[in-house]
Amino acid sequence: MKFFVDTAEIDAIAELNDLGMVDGVTTNPSLILKSGRDILEVTREICDLVDGPVSAEVVATEAEAMIAEGRKLAQIADNIAVKVPLTWDGLKACKVLSGEGNMVNVTLCFSANQAILAAKAGATFISPFIGRLDDINTDGMDLIADIRTIYDNYGFETQILAASIRTVNHITESARIGADVITAPPAVIKAMASHPLTDKGLATFLADWEKTGQKIL
Ligand code: G3P
Repeated sequence: MKFFVDTAEIDAIAELNDLGMVDGVTTNPSLILKSGRDILEVTREICDLVDGPVSAEVVATEAEAMIAEGRKLAQIADNIAVKVPLTWDGLKACKVLSGEGNMVNVTLCFSANQAILAAKAGATFISPFIGRLDDINTDGMDLIADIRTIYDNYGFETQILAASIRTVNHITESARIGADVITAPPAVIKAMASHPLTDKGLATFLADWEKTGQKIL
């Protein structure tokens, strides 16, 4: 399973990248806003830091304008994945941009049918948004499972990029189902290391060690 980091914060990406936890990065207009950075500048910095795909999202809503923006974003670096929304125009842009040899991440996917269309339009990645489906009282994980089944049924090569991940359980479930990639905020990835029994066990070991009066160094 590949780990993408869902942020445009350079320091957070660098920290996880140094640990080998970063196979790619995803950004979107909201994350660019949060970073307070210029999209072209910050995306270039991320691409310099990370070897894997770095998703940068278009903001036009008509296909021709999306394609023009996508071409400009793709010039930033070889590892750019152009992100387009799952609209009919976004699918047109996906077809053209992927046909030109660009990686394309089709985002804002909320149904299996949308995921089928993205695969047929040549998407490199499909981004189903788990957390936002949970928000409306449905189970986002069901969508990941449906897309996995359908893509496997027909040998679609589009990678399932589980997005809008809010909890560590979303990551475990995505791994269990067989999502190709998860993209999560740095805090959620770091939370995967936490377990209360680890903390409790360590406290006991350290207390017992203190009683031995020994030192290793
Ligand atoms: O990867 C998509 C992500 O940035 C959206 O997450 O938490 O805003 O639904 P969220």
